[in-house]
Amino acid sequence: MKKSISVFIFLMLSGTMDVAFADYDLLVKSNCLACHYVDKRKYGPKLNEIAAKYATDANAAETVAKKIKAGGSGVWGEDMMPPQAQLSDADALILAKYILNLK
Ligand code: HEC
Repeated sequence: MKKSISVFIFLMLSGTMDVAFADYDLLVKSNCLACHYVDKRKYGPKLNEIAAKYATDANAAETVAKKIKAGGSGVWGEDMMPPQAQLSDADALILAKYILNLK
């Protein structure tokens, strides 16, 4: 048991284990995948398409984090994203950064 914990810590520190793992978990837990897939259109836009759209936007993380919390429509079409008010600002920013890295 002790050994597996130290292996785990070693993997974390050495960067072999991608931090994005935990972020993906947050995406699952926050139920985003009910409407979004990474590379397939579902009810909402593909997450890698969102990353591409904001690739040149220097304030993308903040913009996208706000949009995640507030929801809305009109950027990708008529469909409406419901507000994700249960998310903390910190979690919204983590998700925004994770999505923006999915190019
Ligand atoms: C009920 C379906 C639904 C859920 C659940 C949902 N989304 Fe969305 N999402 C949408 C739709 C529809 C759009 C397109 C809105 C638009 O065109 O402005 C969208 C757009 C987005 C965008 C692009 C924003 C923009 O302005 O370009 C991001 C980023 C996003 N969603 C992230 C998330 C994250 C993260 C979660 C989970 C916390 C989530 N979504 C949950 C339906 C959903």
